[in-house]
Amino acid sequence: MSDSRPIILKIGGSAITDKTGELAAKTEIINRLAEEIKRADLDNLIVVHGGGSFGHPTALKYGLKDGYNEDPTQKLGFAETHHVMTVLNGLVMDAMIWHEIAAVSIAPSSCFLTENGKIKVFDETVLKALQKMSFTPVMYGDAVLDEKLGFTILSGDQLVAYLAIKYNASKIVIGTDTDGIFDADPKTNPDAKPYKKLTLAELKAIQPKLGKAQGKDVTGGMAGKIAALIPAIEAGVHVTVTGATKGLSIYRALTDQSVLGTEIEKT
Ligand code: IPE
Repeated sequence: MSDSRPIILKIGGSAITDKTGELAAKTEIINRLAEEIKRADLDNLIVVHGGGSFGHPTALKYGLKDGYNEDPTQKLGFAETHHVMTVLNGLVMDAMIWHEIAAVSIAPSSCFLTENGKIKVFDETVLKALQKMSFTPVMYGDAVLDEKLGFTILSGDQLVAYLAIKYNASKIVIGTDTDGIFDADPKTNPDAKPYKKLTLAELKAIQPKLGKAQGKDVTGGMAGKIAALIPAIEAGVHVTVTGATKGLSIYRALTDQSVLGTEIEKT
C-alpha cells in the first residue's frame, strides 16, 4: 500500500498518435513508453493520456467542446468520441499490461462532471481504492457530461492539474512530441529555442506566443495545455515538459533525473 505523494504523467496525444491522420496510433511509441514506466517502478503513479487523432477529429466534427446544441447527431458524436478514446486507451492498456504494469483504466466520463467546461464533480472512490493498493490508475481526455453545456470535452491536461492539486502530487511530467516548450513552433521554425526553466510569471509572459497544435485539436495545443496546467503550478506543483517520442526522457523525468525539456516552478 502506498502513502507517498503521487507523480502524475500526462502522455500527449501528439506523442502516441499521428495527429495529421485519423485513428492513427503510434504503437511502437506506446510500447516504449510502457517500458519506461515499468522501468521507473513507481508505487504511486497516475497516468493520463490525450486524444490525438482518436478523440479530437470526432469531437471537432460534432462540435462537442461548446456543448449540446439540440442537434441529435451530436449525441452520437459524444458516444463515438468516448468510444474512440476507449479504443486508444485499450492500446495503451495492452502495452502496459504486456509490460507487467498493474494498470487499471478509469473512464473519466463515468466519474467526472464539468460545469461550463471546468471539473465540478469527481467521484474519487474507485481511484482512491486503486491507489491504496498501489495499482496504476490510467485516465484520458474524454467526452464528459456538463451541468450547463449538456456535454463537453475534458482535456487530459485539466484532469492532470485537478488530480495534482487534489492529491498533492510531488510532480507532473508532461510527455509531448517536442523536447519541452519552445519560443516558437519547433516543427515549423528551425530557429525555435527551448526554454530550460520557467517560473510561473515567465510562463504567463510567453503564453500568447505558445503554438497551436498541428492537425485537428479541440483543446488548444500547447497554449491550451499550459493554460490548463497553470492552477497546479500556482499550487506549487513542479512540472517537467519533455519529449515522449524517443530516448528515455519519460523514465528519467519520472525518476528525478535531468532531461532535455522545460522545468516549470512557481517561483
Ligand atoms: C482530448 O484530450 C480528448 C478528446 C478530444 C476526447 P487532450 O486535450 O488531453 O488530448 P491531446 O493530448 O491534446 O491529444
